[in-house]
Parts: sequence; C-alpha cells; structure tokens
Amino acid sequence: MIKMPANIDFTSNFTDDPTQSFTPDAEYYFSTDIFEIERRNIFYRNWVYFCHESQVEKPGDYLVGDVVGQSIYVLRGNDGVVRAFFNVCRHRSHQLLSGNGNLKSVIRCPYHSWTYDLEGNLRNAPKCDDVKNFDKESFSISAVSMETVGGFILVNLDANAQSLDEAAPSFRERFLAMAPESTKLHHAKSQEFEINANWKVIVENFLENYHSFYSGPAHAKLSDVIDQSSYQWDISDKIVQFTGKGGAPDKLPYATAGPRTLFGQDEGFNIVFLWPNTAFITLPGANVLLVFLMNPTSSETTHEPLLYFTFDGEIDAQTRSAVDWFNDKLGPEDVELCESVQRGLHSLGCRPGRLMVDPDCSKEWSEHFLHHFNSLNIAAIKG
Ligand code: FES
Ligand SMILES: [Fe+2]
Repeated sequence: MIKMPANIDFTSNFTDDPTQSFTPDAEYYFSTDIFEIERRNIFYRNWVYFCHESQVEKPGDYLVGDVVGQSIYVLRGNDGVVRAFFNVCRHRSHQLLSGNGNLKSVIRCPYHSWTYDLEGNLRNAPKCDDVKNFDKESFSISAVSMETVGGFILVNLDANAQSLDEAAPSFRERFLAMAPESTKLHHAKSQEFEINANWKVIVENFLENYHSFYSGPAHAKLSDVIDQSSYQWDISDKIVQFTGKGGAPDKLPYATAGPRTLFGQDEGFNIVFLWPNTAFITLPGANVLLVFLMNPTSSETTHEPLLYFTFDGEIDAQTRSAVDWFNDKLGPEDVELCESVQRGLHSLGCRPGRLMVDPDCSKEWSEHFLHHFNSLNIAAIKG
C-alpha cells in the first residue's frame, strides 16, 4: 500500500453524500502519481479477471496475461490443478513464458536455462552443484493467489489477499445465478480496443445510464434492448448489478430469436460488475457471455478487451448480429464520448461538475453508481 502525497487532493468537492456531490478534480483522471497509486493500491491488491479454465484445458497448458503491467501466467499442472504465477525467473528475472502453449514437463528459462517443474519448483540450475550453499528449494517461482468462479479464473497479486468470498461477499452467488453453466463455456472470440481515456472515465461511462438517453443514435436504441419496466439495479460494496428483461424481439436493433439469454433466463439483460474493472454481461437474444475489461495501460490510455464465451466456442448468426450492433454501432459512440471527456479534463476551463443524482438514488438515470465507484477508488487511493 502506498500513501497519497500530502500535496495531492482531488476530492475537495466530492462529498460522502452522493446527492450533493460534485465530481473529483480533473487531475484524478490524468495524474501519473495517482495512476501509480491506483496500480499498487487497487489493481495489485484486489481480485481481477484473468481467463477461463477451458483456456488451459489439458495438463501443461499455459496462458500468459498482463495485470496492469505485471506479467502473470496460469498453468495446468500434471495433477490437473490450475495455478497462477508471476512470469519471472528466480535467477536474474528473465521472463519465463509468452503467449500460450503446452509444456511437457518443465519450464526452461531462455537466459541461463534454469528449469522449473509445472508446480513452480526449481528442478535444476546449471552448475549449481559448484555454487556454495545453493539451496534449490529457496528458488520456486513466485505464486499468485487464484480462485475460480463458474470456471472463470480470477487472480489477486497481493500475497496477503482476502479470499474472493471475503473481499466481494455476494459475487460468487450473483455470478452463478446469472451464468449457471459457465464451467462449460469456451472462449470464442476477442475484440480489443485501445482508448485514449483514463480507465475510470470508461468505467464511469459504463456504469451510468444518464447518457444513454441523450448521446447518440445507437444509444437512443438502447431503451429497446431492455424492457424498461423491468429494469433493476443493486449496489453491494464491490459489486454493481443491473438486470432487466429483453425488449420486444421485433424492436431490438439486432436480429434475434427471442428475449432469453445463453442460459435460458428471462432476465435477458444482466450485468455483474466487479470493482475495479470487470463486467460479465448477458444480452437478450444473444447466445454469449461477454467479459468486458477496462485495463489501464497508462494514466490516459486504456486497453479494452471484449471477450466472447459460448458453449461450443462458435458464435451463431443471431449472436453475431447482436454483438456486431454493440461493437459497431454502440461501442464507437461510447469511445468517442470517453475520449472527448479525457481531452476536456485537460481544459483550463474544466471545473468539478455536479453529479446528477436523485434524492433517493432510485432513478435509472441517476449517477449514484458513479459516485459509489469513485468512493471505492478514493478510499483505496488514500489508503
Ligand atoms: S534469468 Fe533465468 S536462468 Fe538466468
Ligand atoms: Fe454508452
């Protein structure tokens, strides 16, 4: 945990009461000092998405990924157990693996050929018998805490992390109710977006519905995707959940066979957002579970992978129509909104704005979700 320097205060107008709060100051969205604190206090200390177990299906399968600048890999051992590790050799820190693949029995470091077994223990280091007091057992690859929920793997880089169930008590239950057979899913496709905006600008845009009514032609159609009379939401510490029935199939802006989800539920529209940056999404009439990640790459850039999971690893025509609408019509409007906000935050005329929150935090347009998100961030940043 690192502490915020005393000379940085960006919350003078952001009050505890969401109904009276202004936004944080502009620096909160572009300061490199704040980004460095966020990396360590938020992304390296909380549970974040990594992959699905089916992506490391067989013994020896591995997958390398990045958690805000930390290279991590998951690997299925010969005992069938999936484990997560920091991707770094214990000799002089060469990275061990890249991409994905299958290992027969050992990981061999490309630099001086130290070899490790699939459980991370050092098997051999060339010439180590000639080195004084060399203790092989002291040089295992550093493990990363890992948990699975419905087949999805989450990691926590903090060696003293609370379990996922302690850290986000209702996440497992909510996710499994939304995606009851998710252990059977397979990764079908990824789309990657590079956005010139701070990750929090993008999460805020994702969490608030206020702009949906006013911001662009595709957004205007969003109200047809969800049966507004059934729309509900719920905040529970690190989780924000939105649910609603699908709109009438003949009104949806994409071709569909009906209002249900991949898992057959009537609540076609379902989002479980896990702070800080992961959303699991089902859509009405689309046979897919989407994982939407907002991964910061710097204080002002965000890598946004959209991952598609289906039962057979294929995307049917109906689902393609739905995801194409979200990606080609709705997505570009959101990217433009976020990038314009990021530019605006640098304006000499930028001042804290008023959060639009109704007195009961009960309206679908209310920005109290955004207040909640920033309260979690600010508490973590301030340590
Ligand atoms: S850095 Fe890996 S063997 Fe030397
Ligand atoms: Fe939007």
